Amino acid sequence: MMRRALIIAAALMAVCGTVDADSSGGAPTGGPANQRQPSASDLSKSPSALLPKSPVTGKSPIDVVASGPLATINNPFTGQADKIEAGKAAFQGKGCPGCHGGNGGGGMCPPLTNDVWVYGSDDDTLFRLVTLGSEGLQKKGFVRIGMENIVGPMPPFGELIKSDEELFEILAYIRSLYKGAPNRINW
Ligand code: HEC
Repeated sequence: MMRRALIIAAALMAVCGTVDADSSGGAPTGGPANQRQPSASDLSKSPSALLPKSPVTGKSPIDVVASGPLATINNPFTGQADKIEAGKAAFQGKGCPGCHGGNGGGGMCPPLTNDVWVYGSDDDTLFRLVTLGSEGLQKKGFVRIGMENIVGPMPPFGELIKSDEELFEILAYIRSLYKGAPNRINW
């Protein structure tokens, strides 16, 4: 456990240390080669309101991601106070604040409170990103569509988060932090 925390801390330095330097340099420049502007179709991808809520299976997030087709995961816990509380504890316990700040406001890594979403804002995308990490997600064909003040990878957490239930709780907490424009909510 301790060892894992150290690995994450090292990743933090590797990923986000460089970002700090970038962000002090003024205007953002090109960014990664695969970056492009969000289009209307990106923003409307997988509108959660139209999807059925996902079942809670108790399986590992890795299994859920591997078995479910893209754009189908839809968090059944969004907006539920008890799940948000549980998710907050898990968020803190798994080391997420080391990169994203204690309240998800962004420290050295992207804030989770604004309406810029690197790969898309829907539950399916966030579930897969946290499970697989940036590199794993990109291997599945996802590309960065939004520019945050960071170009490093997020590590995969699929083995550290014990079940889809726990990840749904974490994502419910992240949704509760949102401070962007209400009309940008598509989850
Ligand atoms: C080592 C630093 C690090 C840790 C620890 C970390 N993240 Fe991230 N996270 C990142 C980076 C970097 C990105 C941006 C990824 C990219 O651009 O490919 C990101 C992106 C995200 C996003 C998408 C944000 C957006 O604006 O689109 C979510 C959601 C997220 N992380 C959740 C979590 C959760 C939940 C945890 C804990 C289980 C966590 N992160 C732990 C570095 C980290």
